[in-house]
Amino acid sequence: MRPRYILIFGPPGAGKGTQGRRLAAELGLAYIASGDIFRQHVEAGTELGRIAKEYMDRGLYVPDEVTVKMVLERLGRPDAERGAVLDGFPRTLPQAEALEKALAERGAEVDLVFYIKISEAEAQRRVQGRWVCRNCQAAYNLETNPPRVPGRCDVCGGELYQRTDETPETLRRRFEVFFEQTVPVLEYYRARGLLVEINGKQPIDAVFRELKAAADRVFGRIAGSGSGGV
Ligand code: AP5
Ligand code: MG
Repeated sequence: MRPRYILIFGPPGAGKGTQGRRLAAELGLAYIASGDIFRQHVEAGTELGRIAKEYMDRGLYVPDEVTVKMVLERLGRPDAERGAVLDGFPRTLPQAEALEKALAERGAEVDLVFYIKISEAEAQRRVQGRWVCRNCQAAYNLETNPPRVPGRCDVCGGELYQRTDETPETLRRRFEVFFEQTVPVLEYYRARGLLVEINGKQPIDAVFRELKAAADRVFGRIAGSGSGGV
């Protein structure tokens, strides 16, 4: 069976990470989030982390050449052999083109694209209460999705912290950048019939049920006919 690729788009705080991890685990695919990889580099104090932090803390996108190289390297690792759920990549048209080329080289393509929609007001509320695991990057929310033990990750026991790109001003900039640079990428996938829009304001489990149902429809069809599409 050829590898399968699902993309998850959405503005900041939409729930890309929350849903992407769960969907990848459910489908047996790798979960790859460009923002998480950047934050791991920042934590580790690497040169890539130093470059990325300058952009992230201003709510701007990290340059394409840095981002593409990093994500394509991650996609080539053994745990992504069966495919991946990509959270936050591609975010620009050059990134989308680079991804398409890399997947074509392995006889694959993007199978399904989700756009989780929420308002900026809802995003502000959510990120204010968000705590993230320093070790595995899983996200929690003090109001809507609290950890079982305060300050500790349910998955790996790591310490929870608050991100440095969460000020109201940075969040506003991230929203603007999303609409300027990433919505055109969504239109590219919409034109190819791959886009499924999801109301992200629903509770976490309700959003997940919609994602899973769409994935089952598409992959059921791929398994049966050898072709993609929604
Ligand atoms: P990234 O880390 O991807 O940030 P983002 O896109 O701004 O999205 P977030 O991670 O803030 O939100 P999310 O949608 O994952 O929501 P979450 O599940 O955590 O990118 C950060 C930066 O890295 C970028 O600004 C850029 O600088 C750089 N970067 C990354 N990729 C790049 C690329 N391809 N090119 C260039 N630069 C790139 O949920 C949010 C909160 O809400 C949590 O507390 C969660 O528990 C809670 N929650 C989730 N769902 C629900 C729900 N349904 N109901 C109630 N609460 C919920
Ligand atoms: Mg995220």
